[in-house]
Amino acid sequence: PRPGWTTYADVVVIGSGIAGLTAALQARAAGSVMVVTKDLLSAGSTQWAQGGIAAALGPGDTPEQHLHDTLVAGAGLCDEDAVRVLVTEGPEAVHALIALGTQFDHTAAGELSLTREGGHLRDRIAHAGGDATGAEIQRALVAAVHAAPDIEVIEHALVLDLIPGVGGGVAGVTLHVMGEGQRDGVGAVLCRAVVLASGGLGQVYSATTNPPVATGDGMALALRGGAVLRDLEFVQFHPTVMWLGAESVGQQPLISEAVRGEGAFLVDDAGTRFMTGQHPLADLAPRDVVAKAIMRRMRESGAEHLWLDARHFGAEKWQRRFPTILATCRSHGVDPVTDLIPVAPACHYASGGVATDLHGQSSVPGLFACGEVACSGVHGANRLASNSLLEGLVFSRRIALQLLEGLPPRREPAADPRVEGLVPGSLRSDLQQVMTERAGVLRSRDGLADGAEALDLLAGKVADEAGVDAWETTNLLTVSRALVAAAGAREETRGSHWREDFPETDDVAWSRHLDVTLVEGVP
Ligand code: SIN
Repeated sequence: PRPGWTTYADVVVIGSGIAGLTAALQARAAGSVMVVTKDLLSAGSTQWAQGGIAAALGPGDTPEQHLHDTLVAGAGLCDEDAVRVLVTEGPEAVHALIALGTQFDHTAAGELSLTREGGHLRDRIAHAGGDATGAEIQRALVAAVHAAPDIEVIEHALVLDLIPGVGGGVAGVTLHVMGEGQRDGVGAVLCRAVVLASGGLGQVYSATTNPPVATGDGMALALRGGAVLRDLEFVQFHPTVMWLGAESVGQQPLISEAVRGEGAFLVDDAGTRFMTGQHPLADLAPRDVVAKAIMRRMRESGAEHLWLDARHFGAEKWQRRFPTILATCRSHGVDPVTDLIPVAPACHYASGGVATDLHGQSSVPGLFACGEVACSGVHGANRLASNSLLEGLVFSRRIALQLLEGLPPRREPAADPRVEGLVPGSLRSDLQQVMTERAGVLRSRDGLADGAEALDLLAGKVADEAGVDAWETTNLLTVSRALVAAAGAREETRGSHWREDFPETDDVAWSRHLDVTLVEGVP
């Protein structure tokens, strides 16, 4: 659609989680900043983060040890320079969050309370409200943005596409504002820099811990805008998502890895602790190891889910340490003080995304990316638990620093050569089913080929009219096709990419990344 109105900002930030709001707050000194967010400022994945934010903050811990654990979890595909940036700048960035007003939990002695999650050899996860870390960080950031009247915020606005500049680069974005007043409908914001911080793609699967807004919009529009995406095949399935039945789709309740960090353990229907002996860290092995062990056990027994046992915490510890999870379990008729919690893996986090350098710069001049939408190289084939909030925080600060050193040049908008093509929003559940069955936690050449064919068929359908549902579903389809193409190409098992037909890690052929771009509209 043609924009009905045009406005200008130096920097447009797309997304309002930890990455987007930090970028906006820090980039103010570089020029005028506009934050565009699809829902309310507080919606998005950050507020759902439970376990916490990892950083070498405790006595005896060091960035070097955090680096080690991150590289081990990443299964050979982390960019060590990016991880070094993450772990060395992480502690100071967390202190900056505290200075902003984030209230982390403290011990009785007044020290920052630090817990452990899978793959960490140290207690280094700072948390807030017990298990409501993301909500507290989001609260503090939203308050800071509200206190910064020079940041313009447009809520309920779906960014549609990048506006290319004459001679390359980005000249702005088009967006659809779902509101009333002057800026209703489709408009254009011309700018010098676009910071993508729009989160992940969890909604490509039927069951995910991600909120409904996680429809891969940023990755899809970056692809359409000519950016390189990387590591898309590495989608993390969180091992312990509360099982509410096969018919339960959409966002599912997360049972934080911190619950295992504090001593909970997995058992099968027979009550056997099956993680013992599978990995030296047992229930606290890296996430991919635990998710695979659960899937294997479920396949062997035909069970639809397994169980998490944390009854020994007792009521007082449950209430003090995990009040959100306790209330959620009880609202679903499970009392974790006396009952086992039914759990199964579900889609949780996209380790890949828009390929960026150490300053968050994508392959398209003027386009930056940070947080889950980006692939900065810190996660490799399997993100270490609680490194995602940290990545959003550290790399958004680096983007802002880059913009403070000099904004990109303003570019003349070019005529957009891209062909429009929206699929109907009604295809969404078919797409999610294809992705879950063919490109989920267990993958094979035949399954992925069937999946690609099914997605091609969906791509042939045409929406009767443009609207949020059609735009989002088109974005879901774009990223799904890219993900399936990458998963089909990577003929090995590594990190969170598990190929039944190539069960071994192949370091000779596959110690490398897979980049995806669009060729004539197809990944
Ligand atoms: C959790 O609390 O288990 C989630 C932590 C993460 O995904 O990093």
